[in-house]
Amino acid sequence: ARPPAHVSRKHTLPSDQLQCDALLLPTQPSVDLWSERNETGGGGGDRCTCDAFLPSSTFPIADLVAVEQTVVEISHKLEKEMGKVIRLIVKLTTEIEKMERDPDSYNEDDFQNTKVEIKQVEALITELQLSISGSTTVFESLRLEVRVTAVVATLNRLEKTHDKNLVLAIRREYIKVQLQLEECERRHQELFKPNIGSCAHTGISKLSQPIVSQLSAHLSSSYKYGGWGKDSKPLPDRESMYWYSGASTAGISSIMFYTNYKNLILRKAFQTTSLKSGWSGTGNNFIIRDNTLYYQINSPFSVAKLNFSTMLYEHRVIPKASSSISYTTSPYQNFDFAADESGLWVTYATVESGGRMVIAKINEASFGLEEEWHTSVYKPGVNNAFMICGVLYATRSIDVHTEEIFYKYDTKTKQETHISIQFERFQEKYSNLDYNPADQKLYMYNDGYYVSYHLWFNHTAASTVQPPYAVT
Ligand SMILES: *[C@@H]1O[C@H](CO)[C@@H](O)[C@H](O)[C@H]1NC(C)=O
Ligand SMILES: *[C@@H]1O[C@H](CO)[C@@H](O)[C@H](O)[C@H]1NC(C)=O
Ligand SMILES: *[C@@H]1O[C@H](CO)[C@@H](O)[C@H](O)[C@H]1NC(C)=O
Repeated sequence: ARPPAHVSRKHTLPSDQLQCDALLLPTQPSVDLWSERNETGGGGGDRCTCDAFLPSSTFPIADLVAVEQTVVEISHKLEKEMGKVIRLIVKLTTEIEKMERDPDSYNEDDFQNTKVEIKQVEALITELQLSISGSTTVFESLRLEVRVTAVVATLNRLEKTHDKNLVLAIRREYIKVQLQLEECERRHQELFKPNIGSCAHTGISKLSQPIVSQLSAHLSSSYKYGGWGKDSKPLPDRESMYWYSGASTAGISSIMFYTNYKNLILRKAFQTTSLKSGWSGTGNNFIIRDNTLYYQINSPFSVAKLNFSTMLYEHRVIPKASSSISYTTSPYQNFDFAADESGLWVTYATVESGGRMVIAKINEASFGLEEEWHTSVYKPGVNNAFMICGVLYATRSIDVHTEEIFYKYDTKTKQETHISIQFERFQEKYSNLDYNPADQKLYMYNDGYYVSYHLWFNHTAASTVQPPYAVT
């Protein structure tokens, strides 16, 4: 598999500089790119990108706008194709692990099979490269190149030498790329310097561009319903854990856990928990907090929780909550759970209020409702909602690519405000949008894709940092 000419010409990409795989990263070398970008509106210097290692003097800045326009489309295509490759690589990785554990039991036939699989991966990569090379977006080809360089290099060597050790090397190199992803994420966090736990701000001022991590673990964009994210109050040994649940219908029957971001991307769950019969959920506004899933069940119609530490289920009926009023884009989203700096919340609409949203604070110890706030926002006109520092934010669609936070309600002052904070969606629809106070990011499950956003806040002068996860 020889990379297409326009890629091989770019010798400026030593493999030890591979930086961003699925993650996009703002780095120093691309500063001038981003000053260009924030003049054209949009998120400003906030999009992390893999062109970071391109020498900025040779980057065709004039083409940038055009490239940006096609980027979303092409990313989608790439993700789908890469899905196939990754699926095979994961299979291969499993084989190789078997081989590593017990090399003696691994016979020549097994080795031949592995080689056939490697050939398949190789063929897919070639196909992928060909389909990409027809495109004018050098930018995107390079992103792809970043993903496959390590694998292709080793495959070529394997072809020449037929060396068993090289099979092992493939895995190592692949993992190296994945580790760079983690480094990417770490640097990204550093750049954003979130002030975790602080509510010394008057609200969101803007969102970053969407950070598209990957097509979900099911590798199918028909798995449109679901959610992903991190525990908002993680157990001490689970701080880097991610969770994901997806389905082709609007419900939840099982959930997968990943030790860290790398394993999420590699689709290596350390645990998959199926909800017990009679406890499967509906709607997609579930969250995980304190190693506990909070979600909606339909018989009886109520809020439910499953504590993964004890595997105990509980439910509470909220008599006034409507079981038929949902958000605009997805059915059965009657209860929407949210977590923020001040604890756990659930929102719903009531018939009594004419379909307007009610915010309720959940007491985490008793799982009872502590207090309710009645808003004037009509739930069927809302796409989704989340809480930050005791303030509800509601979203709606502006057009195919643009989403808007159009409304906020402050539970401390009982004040509501119409606002307009627009941001870009990756795909058209989403079924889960939640804030995580542990990293101050927004997580969106966007038509089968893991998407997240960084947030900027309007900071107030006196920065009184509250203890993280303060219980009110
Ligand atoms: C763009 O962003 C850079 C870095 O944040 C900033 O220095 C520059 O003033 C911005 N330019 C415009 C036109 O907003
Ligand atoms: C944040 O501050 C900007 C600029 O002062 C203002 O336009 C915007 O409405 C504020 N946003 C919120 C959510 O308070
Ligand atoms: C889950 O169970 C553990 C162990 O009993 C307990 O410490 C924790 O408080 C429970 N969490 C929730 C949210 O119920």
